[in-house]
Order: sequence, then C-alpha cells, then structure tokens
Amino acid sequence: MPDALLTLAGVHTHIGQYHILQGVDLAVPRGGLSVLLGRNGAGKTTTLRTIMGMWQASAGAIHFDGVDITRMATPDIARAGIAYVPESMAVFSELTVRENMLLAARNGPLDQARVDWICDFFPALKKFWYYPAGKLSGGQKQMVAIGRALAEPRKLLLVDEPTKGLAPAIINSLIAAFAELKALDTTILLVEQNFSVVKSLGETVSVMDDGRVVHAGSMAALVADDALQQRLLGLSLDSHQ
Ligand SMILES: Nc1ncnc2c1ncn2[C@@H]1O[C@H](COP(=O)(O)OP(=O)(O)OP(=O)(O)O)[C@@H](O)[C@H]1O
Ligand SMILES: [Mg+2]
Repeated sequence: MPDALLTLAGVHTHIGQYHILQGVDLAVPRGGLSVLLGRNGAGKTTTLRTIMGMWQASAGAIHFDGVDITRMATPDIARAGIAYVPESMAVFSELTVRENMLLAARNGPLDQARVDWICDFFPALKKFWYYPAGKLSGGQKQMVAIGRALAEPRKLLLVDEPTKGLAPAIINSLIAAFAELKALDTTILLVEQNFSVVKSLGETVSVMDDGRVVHAGSMAALVADDALQQRLLGLSLDSHQ
C-alpha cells in the first residue's frame, strides 16, 4: 500500500514456547479507521502488543510513518506517535479522572484546549473530573482510557475491543466519538468483534485467524458480500460455541 501509515510484513511473535503470530501482513492506510476482526484467540491483541513492542517480533518487519520500529522499545514507539488503549480499561482506579489525564500527558502539562476538546467527545470526563476513576462505570472508564490515549496528539491510535461488556447506549456514544475522531488528523486501528459496530465506521478491514491475516480489503466490499461475511465472520461465530 503506497501511503500506509503502518505496515506489518511477515511478522512472527513467540510468547514463551508458543508460536502465536505466524506471518502477519497488515497495512493501515493513513487517515480514517481500519478494523481488525477475528475470533477469540486469533491473535488480534498479540498483534497490537507486538506493534507496541510489548512482545518482540521474532521475524518480519514493522514500519510506522517510514520508520522501522520492529526493534524499538515501547516508550520510543509511543513517542513516535502511537497510542494504545488495551482490552482491559487502562485507568488508575485510585486517582481522579484529572490525575489520570495529567499522567497521560508525559511531554509536559496538559494543554487546556486539548482537555476541552477531549471532554467534548466524552462529557463524562468533565462531569467526573475530580472523582476517583475506579468509581466510574465500565463505559465511563473506557472513555477515560481513550481520553488518556488522546492526551497528546498522536498519529495512530490502537484500540482493543472498546465495546466489550458495554451497554448499547454507551457503545453508540463511542461510535459517535470514533466517527468524529477519524474525521480529524488521527488514524485509528480498531479491534472489534462486533461487526455491526464497525461496518459503518471502518474504511478498510482485515480479518485474522490462527495468527495470520486471512482477508484484507475495503469495508464496503465486505458489507456488500454476504457470502464472504458468512465465510469470514460465520467462522468466528462457530468458534464461539
Ligand atoms: N501471555 C500469553 N501466554 C501464552 N499464550 C498467550 C498469551 N497471550 C496470548 N496467548 C495466546 O495467543 C493466542 C492469541 O491471543 P490474543 O490475545 O492475541 O487473541 P485475540 O484475537 O486478541 O482474542 P480475543 O478476541 O479473545 O481477545 C491465543 O491462543 C492465546 O491463548
Ligand atoms: Mg484480544
């Protein structure tokens, strides 16, 4: 892909004795929202953690914005412009929402204009600004986690299953926030199992299975192709049983 912001080429990751990623090829185009789908255990989280340098790729290459980040340390990858919102909401429960946000801005004090901008996306942050984050609901914690990832300008946001366990109304406000975010200067790679959440959000989609990307293309093409959906996503439903 000529204008990809992030590319993984033949990436393998071992965790201990287990060979988890078995040659992942993935391209995230610059701008917009890309979706990574796949059944439980397909390797989606391992892919995000490998991009962040939290697992070392044992083979293959990862390039971000023209730079080879394959062997870089996690803080350097973050500094290069990638933010990561892990599956389990990454908030400090004992600290207030404000303190959570302050800690997230590692390059200096929080910029008030940026705080206002984030609180426009997630009004719950403003409302609970001085509350311990641990007292918030699951959906509100997820908003703090995403707010933290946005505390500094980033080129790429990796978000792992943000809708897991959330009520439909909260999911809708997250969808609205992602729709606005992708219209700005942030590229998003969203891991999601719920196809109905992402089919109207994503431009490109990759589907993983058994540690590999088994399909990549435009979201519009996948939405229009019932047989392909059945083959790729039906497979994921089967494996849930
Ligand atoms: N720390 C670990 N030690 C050993 N195996 C692991 C570890 N983390 C993940 N795995 C294995 O790697 C495979 C891929 O896991 P991963 O978490 O990447 O899947 P996933 O696609 O994110 O699944 P889910 O949708 O359930 O979150 C699974 O078989 C999992 O058991
Ligand atoms: Mg996962």
